[in-house]
Amino acid sequence: MQIAISHTMDTPEGKAENMLYYGDNLDILKRYIKDETVDLIYLDPPFQSGQDYNVLFKEHNGSSSAAQIMAFEDTWHWDQAAAKAFEDALTFGGRLADTMEAFRRILRSNDMLAYLSMMAPRLIEMKRVLKQAGTIYLHCDPTASHHLKILMDAVFSPACFKNEIIWSYRRWPTPSKMYQRMHDVILFYVRDPNQTITFNVDYEPVSESYWKRFKGKTQMLDPETGTRKITLEAETRGMPRRDVWELSIIAGSKKERLGYPTQKPESLLERIISTSSNEGDLVLDPFCGCGTTIAVAQRLRRQWIGIDITHLAITLMRHRLKDAFGETVSYTVIGEPVSLPDAQALAQQDPYQFQWWALGLVGARPVEQKKGADKGIDGRLYFFVERSKSEQIIFSVKAGNVTSAHVRDLHGVVDREKAAIGVLISLNEPTPQMRSEAADAGFYTSKELGNPKYPRIQLLTIEDLLKGKKVECPDSVSSRETNPTFTQAPKAKKQPLAKREKQSRLSEHSS
Ligand SMILES: C[S@@+](CC[C@H](N)C(=O)[O-])C[C@H]1O[C@@H](n2cnc3c(N)ncnc32)[C@H](O)[C@@H]1O
Repeated sequence: MQIAISHTMDTPEGKAENMLYYGDNLDILKRYIKDETVDLIYLDPPFQSGQDYNVLFKEHNGSSSAAQIMAFEDTWHWDQAAAKAFEDALTFGGRLADTMEAFRRILRSNDMLAYLSMMAPRLIEMKRVLKQAGTIYLHCDPTASHHLKILMDAVFSPACFKNEIIWSYRRWPTPSKMYQRMHDVILFYVRDPNQTITFNVDYEPVSESYWKRFKGKTQMLDPETGTRKITLEAETRGMPRRDVWELSIIAGSKKERLGYPTQKPESLLERIISTSSNEGDLVLDPFCGCGTTIAVAQRLRRQWIGIDITHLAITLMRHRLKDAFGETVSYTVIGEPVSLPDAQALAQQDPYQFQWWALGLVGARPVEQKKGADKGIDGRLYFFVERSKSEQIIFSVKAGNVTSAHVRDLHGVVDREKAAIGVLISLNEPTPQMRSEAADAGFYTSKELGNPKYPRIQLLTIEDLLKGKKVECPDSVSSRETNPTFTQAPKAKKQPLAKREKQSRLSEHSS
């Protein structure tokens, strides 16, 4: 996506340090992020798992919705684009080029090579933007972790490697003739091994066996080696944390779960961010998804930069930030269309992204385009008429010419779905005939809400929406406690880790 749009919004008093970018992170990093400005990078790229991920939206009764939409395709193929990425990686020369050549000899031109060719230039950019004393955590799984570690060694250097963190979790086992795969790998590197990095040592409880071995024997240990110090610390606050982390994945029932595939638990990001950054530091997540990193960074009072390549992710992050922090969080969004020509460019480049972006403008959730059940519906929005009763608004988004036939089709869908309101969002101006067809559709009203009248079929242009025009519907869409359209992020709690940070603000020399 090459759309060259820059837009600033949500920046009360112009003091936005936090940035949300829509676009390909390679392009965004190159264009917007300056050298050596970032303190901490966490990246959770697609894993080469060969799966297409769907966002699952919850129905109001709590069940998973049939309305799913593909969020991103986690599959890399050896094709012309991959071959070009590979050739580009070779132009960096040196250790990286040697490593990529070696990969090609070992892997041949396969999909893993395509994946690594995609990652190589992005890691180079991440290294460029990291401060000399900065750190980077690359989250992956055993599918590609062995290759990615070699790639990280090539981009940084083997001396920059600090830890291979094993994130161990439990989930319902699937019968198979091998051990259950229940861990991810997080590769922790520093930018420069000779710098003093931020490392706020974190402690874990001391195990029974440790106590049995060492309790009361501190005098026998050599104080010069540091062993004694660690033993004494263990008596007071536990052991410095190991590189194996037992943390739960987000259970289906947990409030934290927003329905985004591959969403990571906040507890994991809390640990990384509070250990490897301090208040006010800048944290970057170039594969941001539904924004776990930026939500935690915000809560822990770091500055943040998030990048994602789908408008769906950007919309989810906006909702997440609003739900967790209210209107208090200030940030700048870059890469979203802000004018009609921008929107036309987006529609031409990628009709799906255009649709997701347009639906994001009205806060609607997208519906996957399938034949059958959801035919004729591009998005949905819900509002409450009373505590347990909601109504739906159906959206149709058109990037091309619009005619009266589109209005009639939408009217038919609204009737079929027993929806309250139908909205046609178009790039082009509706014709007078379309307007009279829409007027003939009459009004939606509800006695529970005191019989207000809302046009049953509404025609909105992209330009209307960019000027701030809204769908005419009851306020409950946005003003109720619960946003019934997207799964709501819980309100952010006050810094749970403050105590820990105070306790152990130790800096470690990285070499
Ligand atoms: C594994 S998910 C990240 C999930 C995230 N950690 C969370 O907790 O929600 C990977 C994300 O990277 C995004 N992505 C894939 N390729 C990208 C690219 N080239 N530039 C920016 N984002 C990309 C996908 O849209 C997806 O949201």
